[in-house]
Amino acid sequence: MAVLKPQSAKERIILALDVDTVEEAEQLVIELKNYVGYFKIGLQLQNYGLMAADTIKKHGSKVFYDMKFHDIPNTVARASANLVKKGIDFFDVHIKGGSKMMSATVKYATETAKKYGCEMPTILGVTLLSSFGQKTLTQELNVNMSIDEYVSRLARTAYDSGLNGVVASASEAPIIREECGEDFLIVCPAVRPTWSVVNDQVRVVTPSDAIKSGVDYMVIGRPVTNAQNKVEAIQLIIQEIEEAIQNQKEKSFV
Ligand code: C5P
Repeated sequence: MAVLKPQSAKERIILALDVDTVEEAEQLVIELKNYVGYFKIGLQLQNYGLMAADTIKKHGSKVFYDMKFHDIPNTVARASANLVKKGIDFFDVHIKGGSKMMSATVKYATETAKKYGCEMPTILGVTLLSSFGQKTLTQELNVNMSIDEYVSRLARTAYDSGLNGVVASASEAPIIREECGEDFLIVCPAVRPTWSVVNDQVRVVTPSDAIKSGVDYMVIGRPVTNAQNKVEAIQLIIQEIEEAIQNQKEKSFV
């Protein structure tokens, strides 16, 4: 199974293509492909779904197909097998879909990759959306646990079901590391450099705090896509990540 630890600051960045058309997505890919590791196709681009994936691949970039599957095991497993055949690099499922759904997905994706000679994608589990805070977790989802405890239990279920990692807020990264170990991937959205606006995200972190908390990949959308100068914005983020990695290295030598 493909578990890829990122090797550079660029590779750690997953750019969210939250636009309405494949033409707009392609523009972003052309403009930013030298600065990001992966492009993420999400719900806003669903009308173009796998066509957008082909467009990203045509430009030599990697694809995170972020449709957060949440359905019965057979449906998710078969949908995932189609992504394997398409050469998708990352995709995700909701951990709340259950361990049966996740393990069926891993099994069927693995069999499909073997049968068709395709690369096995990295499969991630979505923990708790970063737009949720403690109050909404308790009052709307009726979960009587702290966010940390809830997310760490979900991560453990994903790990035990054979997933490669999770999507979670950086504030939960340390507890996930403790629960699931060094090789488990942590992908964190809601990244906000200090110079950007927070939008609708609640549990936000800066790129350097994300690195400090042990995140592998970070999903970044509006701080770059809404910037006047997108290349300058992404370069600032790369620089911040590189500095944070350097600081981490220096600390570990002390
Ligand atoms: O624009 P922004 O940087 O907030 O984009 C965040 C992206 O990450 C969106 O595409 C959103 O769907 C996705 N995401 C998230 N929270 C999660 C999982 C994915 O914000 N827990």
